[in-house]
Amino acid sequence: MNRPVQRPRRLRNGPVVRGLVRESTPSVEQLVLPLFVVDGTGIREPVQQLPGVERRSIDEASGLIEEALDLGIRAFAPFPSVRDRDKDAEASMATREDSLGARTIRALADRFPEAILVADVALDPYSSDGHDGLVVDGRIVNDPTVDVLAEMAVMLAECGAGIVAPSDMMDGRVGSIRTALDRAGSTDTIIMSYAAKYASAFYGPFRAALDSAPTERPGVPSDKRSYQMDPANSNEAVREARLDLEEGADIVMVKPGLPYLDVIRRLRSELDSPVAAYHVSGEFAMLRFAAAAGALRYEDALAESIQSLTRAGADIVLTYGAIDFARIIRAGGDR
Ligand code: PBG
Repeated sequence: MNRPVQRPRRLRNGPVVRGLVRESTPSVEQLVLPLFVVDGTGIREPVQQLPGVERRSIDEASGLIEEALDLGIRAFAPFPSVRDRDKDAEASMATREDSLGARTIRALADRFPEAILVADVALDPYSSDGHDGLVVDGRIVNDPTVDVLAEMAVMLAECGAGIVAPSDMMDGRVGSIRTALDRAGSTDTIIMSYAAKYASAFYGPFRAALDSAPTERPGVPSDKRSYQMDPANSNEAVREARLDLEEGADIVMVKPGLPYLDVIRRLRSELDSPVAAYHVSGEFAMLRFAAAAGALRYEDALAESIQSLTRAGADIVLTYGAIDFARIIRAGGDR
């Protein structure tokens, strides 16, 4: 019988050897926890489409952040889930200092100076049509939207956001935001751009949490495909990320995560900036629903998901499972 000389299994014999040869180990420092915030006090409401995640009032969100800080998580991305009466077709609340998003950043920055807050810059939480940009004559207009986003970013930086994260996919917004921040004296505010953000089906639970799905209204596009990327493309992702970096982005993001591991890998190898991956709501919900049906173990599937994102090249991972994963890391053991 022919015996193999090469036996890769030798390096899988037991946790010690596996630990020695493990190529990447995601750490808690790389995690960003997204959270949903609502008006009011003492509110914690589960999001049915996103099991394990709640919409919380600012006071209750603070409790969650304390829990996360105890586990070593330091970065948080709050998303405002805005009441209908604070939404309009122009998303006029987006730039206001009394918007839920702005109040959230101020309150959390004040309470948690040791944390870094990632403020989302896009119009959808405040738009009654659920779009990230302004809608004029049935189209999402680019340049007028960019002006509003730049104003919004400056305002959120002044509220205490250490990172502003334009998630809108308008052309040229990073450059305009950088210029506006610098003019306002916020030269140290980091821009993490959603550079390769795809028009994805995996945002469903997020839109349910924010009630921000594009409306089915005559004269308003019913999807985001005129600004978010076509899932078929990856050269375009490199181009988008390069443009954002040229315009002044500090970190570029790929979103969603797991369905786009090849894109994460390309940006990691073709660019020299940090790359973030957003393990989005639909990806997270799949784990939860599958686990609830007895199809897999949530903790194992979550750890493998995050491991895969960092193996592909993500330096930063945004995940609704950040707290659970931090607990898994803390428990240690053979993963
Ligand atoms: C919108 C925004 C979306 C997400 C983050 N910012 C949804 C969308 O583009 O419709 C999705 C995040 C997730 O699904 O977890 N600016």
